[in-house]
Amino acid sequence: MNEETKPDGTTTLGSRILKVDHAGEQGAVNIYRAQIAMARWTAPSLVAELREFKAHEEKHRALFWAELQRRGVRRCRSYWLCGIGGWVLGLLTGLLGRHAISATTVAVERVVLGHLKTQLHELAGKDDAAVHVISQIVQEEQLHHDQSASHVRTDHVWSKVLSPVVAASTESVIWLGMRL
Ligand SMILES: [Fe+2]
Ligand SMILES: [Fe+2]
Repeated sequence: MNEETKPDGTTTLGSRILKVDHAGEQGAVNIYRAQIAMARWTAPSLVAELREFKAHEEKHRALFWAELQRRGVRRCRSYWLCGIGGWVLGLLTGLLGRHAISATTVAVERVVLGHLKTQLHELAGKDDAAVHVISQIVQEEQLHHDQSASHVRTDHVWSKVLSPVVAASTESVIWLGMRL
C-alpha cells in the first residue's frame, strides 16, 4: 500500500511528512515575501536573490500541494501558523538588513536540510512518491543555504544572535506540525 489514509483513518508517515513540508514551504514563501518588502529599503542588493529564492519556494509549495491533492489529504493544521510565523520572521529580519536576512536563511535551511535528509531516509522503500517529491527540492534548499552562507560571516552579531533563535523556532514548528 503506498499512501492516503490507513484503515483507522489516520494519515501515513509519508502523508504526515508531506503535510508538514507543504506548511514549511508556505512559511518560507512568507519569509521571503516580507524580507523582499523590507529589503527594498534595508538591503537593495539582496532583492534579486530573494525574489529568485521566493520563486523556488512557491514551486516547492506547489509540488507538495499537488501530491497532497493526489492523495486526497488536507493541508496541515500548522499551515497558517507557518505562514504567519514566516511573515513575522521575514519582517523583523528584513528590517535589520542584509546580514540578518542571510543569517536567517542559513539557520532555517540548515534545519530544513537536516530534516529533509532524515525524511528521505525514513521513507526510502516505503513511500516512493513522497521520496520523489522531497528529492526534487533538496538541491534548491542547499543552494539557498550555500549562497546565503557566502554573504555572512559566522562571527557577525546577527549570526550569533539570530541563528540559535531562528533554528529553535524552525525546529519547534516542524515538531508541532508532526503532532497536529
Ligand atoms: Fe522550499
Ligand atoms: Fe529554501
